[in-house]
Amino acid sequence: MHERAVWIFLCDLGGQNMPFEGSIPVEIGNLVNLFSLGMESNFLYGSIPSSIGKLRNLYILNLSKNKLSGQIPPSIGDVTQLALLYLDGNNLGGNIPGSLAQCMGLFELNLSQNNLDGSIPVRLFADLLFAWSLDFSHNNLTGELPPVLGTYGIGSGLVSLHMEGNRFHGQIPERWHLLVSTRQINLSHNDLSGVVPKFFEQLDKLEQLDLSYNNLEGAVPASGIFTHSAAVVLDGNKGLCSNSPRLALPICPGISGSATKVKHHLSLLVTSLLIVLPPLTIGSLVLIWFMLTIWKKGSFPFSRWDLVSKMFPNRREVHTAPCHDEKKLKRVSYEDIVKATNWFSLVHTISSTCTGSVYVGRFKSDKSLVAIKVFKLNEPGGYDSYLIECEVLRSTRHRNIMRPVTLCSTLDSQNHEFKALIFEFMVNGSLEAWLHSEQHNGIPDKVLGFGQRICIAADVASALDYAHNELTPPLIHCDLKPNNVLLDDDMTARLSDFGSAKFLSPGLVIPKSLDDVGGTIGYVAPEYGMGCEISVAGDLYSFGVLLLELLTGKRPTDDMFVDGLSLCKFSESMFPDRVAEILDPHMAHEEHQGCTEAWMERYIVPLVALGLSCTMESTKDRPGMKDVCAKLSDIRASFLELS
Ligand SMILES: *[C@@H]1O[C@H](CO)[C@@H](O)[C@H](O)[C@H]1NC(C)=O
Ligand SMILES: *[C@@H]1O[C@H](CO)[C@@H](O)[C@H](O)[C@H]1NC(C)=O
Ligand SMILES: *[C@@H]1O[C@H](CO)[C@@H](O)[C@H](O)[C@H]1NC(C)=O
Repeated sequence: MHERAVWIFLCDLGGQNMPFEGSIPVEIGNLVNLFSLGMESNFLYGSIPSSIGKLRNLYILNLSKNKLSGQIPPSIGDVTQLALLYLDGNNLGGNIPGSLAQCMGLFELNLSQNNLDGSIPVRLFADLLFAWSLDFSHNNLTGELPPVLGTYGIGSGLVSLHMEGNRFHGQIPERWHLLVSTRQINLSHNDLSGVVPKFFEQLDKLEQLDLSYNNLEGAVPASGIFTHSAAVVLDGNKGLCSNSPRLALPICPGISGSATKVKHHLSLLVTSLLIVLPPLTIGSLVLIWFMLTIWKKGSFPFSRWDLVSKMFPNRREVHTAPCHDEKKLKRVSYEDIVKATNWFSLVHTISSTCTGSVYVGRFKSDKSLVAIKVFKLNEPGGYDSYLIECEVLRSTRHRNIMRPVTLCSTLDSQNHEFKALIFEFMVNGSLEAWLHSEQHNGIPDKVLGFGQRICIAADVASALDYAHNELTPPLIHCDLKPNNVLLDDDMTARLSDFGSAKFLSPGLVIPKSLDDVGGTIGYVAPEYGMGCEISVAGDLYSFGVLLLELLTGKRPTDDMFVDGLSLCKFSESMFPDRVAEILDPHMAHEEHQGCTEAWMERYIVPLVALGLSCTMESTKDRPGMKDVCAKLSDIRASFLELS
């Protein structure tokens, strides 16, 4: 009920079939609700407008493979929740703006194949919290490799690092021993010098290491990844040697020689220590000894992830809730969730209600994004809503119903009970955002077409028909509204948020107030306010409102509905002769149909009639979901056939 309205919006103009040409308009900055912007593989030229920084809700920006030039605008750093940024395959020049480090939640960054120069901002490597893949390859980047890495986390999460084909010089930083999760490192075709560091032997996730075409020299380490000759590429480094026949490198000069060198260095060190020692207090010596010992043991909390494990040592799984019947479901730990949501950060919050908060994130082990619903167990209704969602998970299976893919039921860092359900992330967000973006600004793809609206209505009807008529006992959603209808990547609608749902049973309590139903003003059936029993007819009412909203583009709570006027009464007053006037003006109906009378008669009038019959005052006058679903399927079939 107390939802924070959040617009999630997607604009996909990736040039698969019809690439378009032109520059990115400055007005793009007006699309403040944009969640994902995909304009890859087109012929975009000119620079990226600095107004891009106004897109505070942007999570994905894909401008790959265009002809963009100029600098990356520093304002990109204002898009602090950016997670996926692809600018590869353009002609972008200048420096990488240091402000990019403000996008601390960047998972993937691809700047490959541009003309970027200057060095990589050190803060970028220091501040990114959970970068998964960084690709700086094939630019003109110079300077030393950024040494700061891993202090706060990048080292522990980074899986792939591409810096090949630049002009980086200097040595490979020792601090890179923190790249404990990294599987791929490509530093080939640079001017790196010094030795191949021994720590690569210890990075046991490492699968591919390409250091070819640099100026590296000295003995190549022999264990760890270096035992797999196919995994390591060292060609084109003139000074390397190895005593292992596997690497096909020149044999190193006599070991004894270097051993004496080491001894010599050691004695020098001891002598200098003897000179420096007296001023040092015993205290600082003890401190140094202490730090050295824990560092050697490898327990120094360099990596943020280690830190997390230290903070939550007593994780335990609690086995109480009925969700656990679902044996096949894979579990995730509290730590995984903490990391995926960046400590439940606001930046990752999609929505928040009184019973739970939904975050977007990604697990370290997995590439796809997920929506994580964390239940507020201390709030009234929080626990119940977890239990009912679990029950829904256990008993439903339908293509238009959102089911969790994973769950987490455990104790949190303070030993409080913690419950979360993990859902596939729906890239197209909620129906609410599609219907009510106040920012149409001439981007036609963002408006739902008439055909899409019919399909969405039919999908939702099919989900409800299943819940009402195919489950025993019937399941009543109780909070149907556009916010709870999510759209997947091909715009298939899925009914979500069963937190207020109820299985119909004889002893079902009669709600004393609207709060007991858990519905939302405008969508909740009027009889619930008058102490009537919860019934499937309540969902029909909400569905009718949703259908009218789909057609008119008006919320039932719109400002125009005052003094007894409501969305239903308004629609009814125009029915049937003037229904054309109530249609959502933004609706992009397919051209050849126009607003012809045949079209009105064939689709619009029956749809409005259906909406009106579902919203009848008396529950007895409303149709059943089975009939509604059948009618909508017919309308959809006839529409698809003719278009
Ligand atoms: C971005 O565009 C590239 C290039 O066309 C494509 O390979 C990639 O899948 C896109 N990524 C996303 C997340 O849309
Ligand atoms: C980055 O983009 C380039 C060029 O489009 C592509 O070849 C490369 O695979 C991408 N890197 C990653 C890590 O996906
Ligand atoms: C590293 O990058 C170079 C240059 O693009 C490429 O030829 C090579 O195959 C890459 N190495 C690995 C192991 O992928």
